[in-house]
Amino acid sequence: MAEVITLPGLIDLHVHLRDPGQTHKEDFYTGSSAALAGGFTTIVDMPNNQRLITNSELLVEKISSAKSKTVCDIGFNFGTLGDNLDQFEAIYDKVVGLKVYLNITTGGFIVDKPKLAEIYKAWESDKPIFLHAEEDVSDLVTSTLREIERKTHICHVSSEDELKFVMKAKEAGLPVTCGVTPHHLFLSDKDTERLGPYANVKPYLKPESDQKFLWDHLDAIDIIESDHAPHTRQEKESNEPPFGLPGLETTLPLILTAEAEGRISRQQLLEKLHFTPAKIINLETNPETKIEVSMEEYEIKNEDLKTKCGWSPYAGKKVIGKIERVNLRGQLVYEHGKILTQPGSGKTIS
Ligand code: NCD
Ligand code: ZN
Repeated sequence: MAEVITLPGLIDLHVHLRDPGQTHKEDFYTGSSAALAGGFTTIVDMPNNQRLITNSELLVEKISSAKSKTVCDIGFNFGTLGDNLDQFEAIYDKVVGLKVYLNITTGGFIVDKPKLAEIYKAWESDKPIFLHAEEDVSDLVTSTLREIERKTHICHVSSEDELKFVMKAKEAGLPVTCGVTPHHLFLSDKDTERLGPYANVKPYLKPESDQKFLWDHLDAIDIIESDHAPHTRQEKESNEPPFGLPGLETTLPLILTAEAEGRISRQQLLEKLHFTPAKIINLETNPETKIEVSMEEYEIKNEDLKTKCGWSPYAGKKVIGKIERVNLRGQLVYEHGKILTQPGSGKTIS
């Protein structure tokens, strides 16, 4: 019998559950089921739905729909293109933070660069601004932060240059944190040929030298975020494959496998998947929210996944760490592949 370990419920600050608008890819029920199956008890959903969540009505509608379907705890980020600053006041207490896209990705909701400072000025909240900012905009981000200090989380750092920019910003005392995705840790541009359109993701998969830099500087990276971004196989195999990979169900096993190989410590795992994400969003965690994981080896199989998209870039890979049980605030909500709780039993966080 493999050893069974108990961990606190994991927290993922970057998921795209596609609900409302693109529920053929995922919805609040299937996406939050995938979260539980992956050991995540709290997730933060991004605003790049088919229609960007840029006003209080759209946000309230989205939250109320989530309330009836979600099986883990969930928080939301607000969206902006810089033309809805008057909405901020009304939504501060309903969200976890603000998401700003400075590079092209799913949805195409990219902010005009000169608007960044205006957005920063208008966001009069201690809640973080989550930036999709790849290395091409690092100077803009630094100069904006120097002018207007707002708690900022740089999503999915993927290259040496990008992480160096975050390290420098931290050294300069700017209030920044950053995250890395499992795919930038476990896949590189070498996998692009094998995975074809399934490897299409923003930021792009990088050369192994960048990947090595991330692994060598894990302590400079605050959190691991799945960036769970499901698209159907049909979409991925189309002439214009969209950006994004599913990740909720494979993140913990990949990290536990790396732990077994001596590449990351248990303490680092806990910091990056639980304690620091909680700190970033000022979340009070519940000691009765915990997961049990069997440290056995198994193969990732598409047919075992709960995500509606039904595929994983890691299918066929052998990993360690099977999520056996999940307790949400003391209630058993997941066991051996089965969701044991009703849609809507998750709590909304803000
Ligand atoms: C994400 C998506 O599909 O919503 N895609 C991606 O490639 N990561 C958007 C994002 O986080 O950039
Ligand atoms: Zn992004």
